[in-house]
Amino acid sequence: MTTIRQLVYSSEEATPFDRLRLDSLLNHARKANDHNGITGVLLRSPGRFVQCLEGARETVDVLFSKIRADRRHREVCVLQQLDLPLRFFQEWSMGCTEIQQSELLRLQTAQWEARAADSDSDKWQSPGSVLMKAIWTARNNRAL
Ligand SMILES: Cc1cc2nc3c(=O)[nH]c(=O)nc-3n(C[C@H](O)[C@H](O)[C@H](O)COP(=O)(O)O)c2cc1C
Repeated sequence: MTTIRQLVYSSEEATPFDRLRLDSLLNHARKANDHNGITGVLLRSPGRFVQCLEGARETVDVLFSKIRADRRHREVCVLQQLDLPLRFFQEWSMGCTEIQQSELLRLQTAQWEARAADSDSDKWQSPGSVLMKAIWTARNNRAL
């Protein structure tokens, strides 16, 4: 079975992103991600990001090393790295939406390990990734 690498991290903007800078980042990212088979979402609250990257393990690793070194943000902190049987954000080459500070805080403090007691079908869904998907679904109609 092929597996999908899902990597989730949080970071802090080095200098504030206005709409123009964010659009330019997203334009580049979406084209490159389409080309490389990467899907995911970028959730943004003023000054901070949580991003989910999904794709082939090597592709995600290469992309994340570029993102980690990108000087437009700092304090890059990995929340989760999991191998999944399927993508959470299949339709999004990089969905993006604004979220509230309280939601970002909930994501940063969520449990990102799947619990041992979870049933087999849920083993790969940590409470953090379920919360991330729920926040995205609630805001999907306000995607940037
Ligand atoms: C918060 C943030 C999220 C990013 N997300 C992506 C992404 O999803 N895909 C991507 O190709 N680049 C993304 N980038 C840009 C990369 O850090 C890097 O600039 C880019 O991959 C370089 O592309 P290159 O292959 O043309 O050198 C992101 C940058 C930041 C600051």
